[in-house]
Amino acid sequence: MTKTIVNIGSSRGIGKSIIDFLAKDDSVKIYALSRNEEKMRKQFAKYKNVECKFFDLNAKDLRGQLEYIFSKVDKIDVLINNAGYLVNKPFESLTRRDFELSYQVNVIGIMETVQCLLPKLEHGAHIVNISSMGGFQGTVKFPGLVAYSTAKAAIVCFTELFAEEFKGSTIKMNCLCLGAVQTEMLQEAFPGYEALVSPEQMAEYIGNFALTAHQWMNGRIVPVSLSTP
Ligand SMILES: NC(=O)c1ccc[n+]([C@@H]2O[C@H](COP(=O)([O-])OP(=O)(O)OC[C@H]3O[C@@H](n4cnc5c(N)ncnc54)[C@H](OP(=O)(O)O)[C@@H]3O)[C@@H](O)[C@H]2O)c1
Repeated sequence: MTKTIVNIGSSRGIGKSIIDFLAKDDSVKIYALSRNEEKMRKQFAKYKNVECKFFDLNAKDLRGQLEYIFSKVDKIDVLINNAGYLVNKPFESLTRRDFELSYQVNVIGIMETVQCLLPKLEHGAHIVNISSMGGFQGTVKFPGLVAYSTAKAAIVCFTELFAEEFKGSTIKMNCLCLGAVQTEMLQEAFPGYEALVSPEQMAEYIGNFALTAHQWMNGRIVPVSLSTP
């Protein structure tokens, strides 16, 4: 039976490369979600197995959007929560809006998405949350990243809590804490820094992990990094 894969945050960076990697297998059906639908349509036009859909983790009608996108989809086999929102500001300058936006996109929107899609995931699906080494306890921390990295730490904790609550079900959830990958977000966080890892390399790792790792693990937090940051 055709595998259905959903990637949230597909318009650029690692998410774009995840779609490029997974779409090579034309036996899978992929839903690429992001706010920038036009950009996705253009860059994925060459793939017959990719559907591009507008989706905003910060939207008030997040549930309505998901119901609309997946109204004709019975089951989802893999959900990759790759979207992320970076705030890079000194602690004293952070506004309530900065905190709210970071937590909405990086944590609350993802938890609500999982809640909403549960009925379509309850048949052995794998949910992969993309966090950061900055949200992994005990790692080196960097100034300016309070609003972002605390939210990434929350999604780590969510992974452990979800796996515990759903251990009697067939759904598995794991979390990857990424180190530096050469994307626009990295340039916003660490201007001028050159990462050892390209989005294509990381996407291949994430894609293979999403397709296979739930056979071996559940509720695991996996650091994926060769460098600091
Ligand atoms: N690059 C790194 O070094 C690094 C390190 C650690 C962790 N990570 C994590 O890896 C993931 C991918 O990072 P990246 O570097 O590829 O980031 P990126 O280039 O900034 O891409 C982020 C993606 O998230 C989507 N997105 C942002 N806000 C959204 C919203 N409100 N609703 C839906 N989609 C939204 C963006 O699409 P639209 O703008 O079109 O919506 C975009 O496709 C993120 O979770 C990030 O935190 C990255």
